[in-house]
Amino acid sequence: MTMSYNLLKGKRGIIFGALDPNSIAWITAERVHEEGGKFVLSNAPIAMRMGQINELAEKTGSQVIAADATSEEDLENLVKKSVEILGGKLDFILHSIGMSINVRKGRAYTDQKYDWTQKGTDVSAMSFHKVMQTLYKNNAMNEWGSIVALTYMAAQRVFPDYNDMADNKALLESIARSFGYFFGRDKNVRVNTISQSPTPTTAGKGVKGFDGFISYAEKMSPLGNATALDCANYTVSLFSDLTKRVTLQNLFNDGGFSNMGVSDAVMDMVTEN
Ligand SMILES: NC(=O)c1ccc[n+]([C@@H]2O[C@H](COP(=O)([O-])OP(=O)(O)OC[C@H]3O[C@@H](n4cnc5c(N)ncnc54)[C@H](O)[C@@H]3O)[C@@H](O)[C@H]2O)c1
Repeated sequence: MTMSYNLLKGKRGIIFGALDPNSIAWITAERVHEEGGKFVLSNAPIAMRMGQINELAEKTGSQVIAADATSEEDLENLVKKSVEILGGKLDFILHSIGMSINVRKGRAYTDQKYDWTQKGTDVSAMSFHKVMQTLYKNNAMNEWGSIVALTYMAAQRVFPDYNDMADNKALLESIARSFGYFFGRDKNVRVNTISQSPTPTTAGKGVKGFDGFISYAEKMSPLGNATALDCANYTVSLFSDLTKRVTLQNLFNDGGFSNMGVSDAVMDMVTEN
């Protein structure tokens, strides 16, 4: 049982990307609910056909609105309806959306099918710009609101099997800074990305060699891999009033991995006798 501090009492928002109980967005929605936040859940129409999101909606007293995050029209509808349903402007947004067809179909980075690459960029990175532009133009965020997107360290360092998602994450992090400037200047809203450890979810497990990936990161990190619940808790802190002037940041939630060179555990594995 997680502790609850009422950190998000009276706050309203939208949570994108809860697919199943492993999803980082699913666990975040549960934590935000425990902390007193109210929200609308959204996912792509195709993801909702599996129906699991309705269980989460019931559990958290939320409504679900389908939106393909690449569609400006869907996002416009989602933002307007969310403000209506929740009874006021929004305080927090979680963008927890990622997808690469090249990854899914096992196409090497050196053999991209570019219409798949483009689709992946649109879903995984441009969608964040579209979400923020829709919120900005509709003046749908309250002052001192907080917007968070999830990313991975392949934006800075090479992880070969992460494929074109590495480039998508680099763009996502750049969009967070660029839009974060205007959102800060004009609306006092903060925008950050959380760079999360490898986490066993549908998207995570889709990356080739994921088991090796996750156990390597575990052995490399002094605190071990951050779990989906750790990520949910960090997101709650960023949605709360305790982090009001943290913005334009890419924040590592990774047990220390990003600043490691090598650990004893990894040395033991690669040293003969
Ligand atoms: N799992 C990891 O190892 C890991 C590590 C770092 C960052 N992340 C990031 O965390 C975020 C959440 O992923 P997850 O690991 O919880 O996996 P997940 O598969 O549970 O979530 C991905 C979500 O993206 C949604 N999505 C895909 N296309 C969409 C579209 N067109 N419109 C709207 N939604 C769409 C999916 O329906 C799904 O809910 C992603 O941005 C992912 O890249 C994951």
